[in-house]
Amino acid sequence: MRIAHISDIHCNYGSDFNSKVFDSAVKLLNKTDSDLVFISGDLTTWGLLSEYKLAKEKLKEINGKIVIVPGNHDERNLGYKLFPEFFGDPSFIHIYKNLSFVGLPSSEPDKDDGRLGRRRHRLIERGIKKGKKLTIVGFHHHLIPVPNSGREKNIIEDAGETLDIILKNEVPLVLMGHRHVPYGVKIHKTLLVNAGTFSCNRTRAHFGHTFNIIDIDNENITVTVVDITNNKQKKMIKFNLENGHYKNRYYNPDIRIE
Ligand SMILES: [Fe+2]
Repeated sequence: MRIAHISDIHCNYGSDFNSKVFDSAVKLLNKTDSDLVFISGDLTTWGLLSEYKLAKEKLKEINGKIVIVPGNHDERNLGYKLFPEFFGDPSFIHIYKNLSFVGLPSSEPDKDDGRLGRRRHRLIERGIKKGKKLTIVGFHHHLIPVPNSGREKNIIEDAGETLDIILKNEVPLVLMGHRHVPYGVKIHKTLLVNAGTFSCNRTRAHFGHTFNIIDIDNENITVTVVDITNNKQKKMIKFNLENGHYKNRYYNPDIRIE
């Protein structure tokens, strides 16, 4: 199975949204032939009706099945009331063959920091029980600090409890966004992966605009980062689900990942 993981699109009529980059990004995305596109929030910048309408129009350019959770920006200015109208239930469990995908809103209206809370923790546990083999959990905010993304301030406030549920249950993959920087690391038997920004002008240093391709088979999860501007792909992480072996080019740039 192949999941394209994109994040932080930031549709906006001010300076945030880069429509030229969005168009190039969608061309690359549509060539990945993914079974599923997961968007980990911040489709808008101010949660405004005009931005929701723009986001809805823009997403029509993406081929295939899309699942979406909201980000902190989408919940501003009553945007949390618009999200379900435009993109459906922000909390969900979807089953794909033997995989269960749990999507959760980690934002609170008009706040930049995130929180899941007990109700959503229970949804993670329900998703784990429903899935026959693999569970993927996706939300907007980061669960652990992300290097190269500035001083820590928006990590979910119940990160400890959330991490405990995820690690105890050996959830193999958690997908997040928010920091506009791609990143991935393995803790215990879980791969924590952040997507960078797809089309927001607020990029960090040379990280630019990126999205992730996640390939999952019976043995491995492989994460490839696509550099949108340079049209380059780099396999960044390979995690063997059977023996727990793990290669990470963020920390060992010299290794090759086949
Ligand atoms: Fe965000």
